Amino acid sequence: KDSTGIHVITCQAAIAWTANAPLSIEKIEVDPPKPGEVRIKIISSGICGTDKHILEGKDKVPLPAILGHEGAGIVESIGEGVTSVKPGNFLIIPQYSCLHPKGNFFIPPTGLMLDGTSRFTCRGRKIYHLYGTSTFTEYTVVHEIAVGKIDDGAPMDRVCIISCGVPTGFGAVFNTARVTPGSTCVVFGLGGIGSAVVMACKASGASRIIGVDINEEKFPWARDLGVTDCLNPQKLEKPVQEVVVEMTGNGVDFAFEAIGLIDTMVSQLEAQFGGWVLPVNMRYTLTS
Ligand SMILES: NC(=O)c1ccc[n+]([C@@H]2O[C@H](COP(=O)([O-])OP(=O)(O)OC[C@H]3O[C@@H](n4cnc5c(N)ncnc54)[C@H](O)[C@@H]3O)[C@@H](O)[C@H]2O)c1
Repeated sequence: KDSTGIHVITCQAAIAWTANAPLSIEKIEVDPPKPGEVRIKIISSGICGTDKHILEGKDKVPLPAILGHEGAGIVESIGEGVTSVKPGNFLIIPQYSCLHPKGNFFIPPTGLMLDGTSRFTCRGRKIYHLYGTSTFTEYTVVHEIAVGKIDDGAPMDRVCIISCGVPTGFGAVFNTARVTPGSTCVVFGLGGIGSAVVMACKASGASRIIGVDINEEKFPWARDLGVTDCLNPQKLEKPVQEVVVEMTGNGVDFAFEAIGLIDTMVSQLEAQFGGWVLPVNMRYTLTS
């Protein structure tokens, strides 16, 4: 119990002890929220490509940690001074605070809360947070600035993707690239981010949206979202960027890379002949 009578919660979480190893389901203790913090019962969490990069050791964050950074949940308790939410409120947990129209605040990647401590322990060891979020757990603690109150009737099993995937894709299209009506676009990668990019290109009035992926199971879904042409680079006789340039005459107006590979970033650049270039996965530079 802390000074305001809030208890430590014991629950389960998926711990990343090291990179290149499976997540381990463990019993953890979650401390009460400190001033300005919110403790949340997680209802759903997306799995982002960035979680995968961390587990593969490609993105370095302090470990052991509780990964996951696109979650939806219900406020369990609040720390002193929290005014924007109260217990029982439904939330999404974006990793950004976007109050300023020109910028956002990204929680520093120290793996700790802003006071320099962690709210998680497992088997007596301190467990790090991820980007001030950590959603692969039954309960988490985040800063008040990293929560977004949503309607009680929101579909809690799906709304979590509005915390990361959807704003990353829509932000890239609307805020950074500013796709124009009638334009041609190519989207490399038709996963979570790529799907959001496709939806935003369509909403911007793009007349042709070429989707590129090596997993053809993504194609019917991508077509439903707005992709007009699907390409599997593994089935082409020449580099995909050459095919895109041929299909479009002189390249596309806007190219998006939503995979996270150097090779496909180069293809994305080359698919575009004098237009906007936008690597979706340049984290910290994109708005959401
Ligand atoms: N900038 C940000 O804030 C931000 C936010 C979220 C994700 N990301 C990054 O965006 C990228 C995509 O994330 P996601 O969650 O959409 O991942 P995802 O796993 O859902 O989607 C990746 C897609 O790429 C496809 N793919 C893999 N290799 C390919 C290849 N060689 N050629 C063509 N297609 C290939 C996969 O089949 C899959 O459909 C990751 O690098 C992630 O780190 C950035």
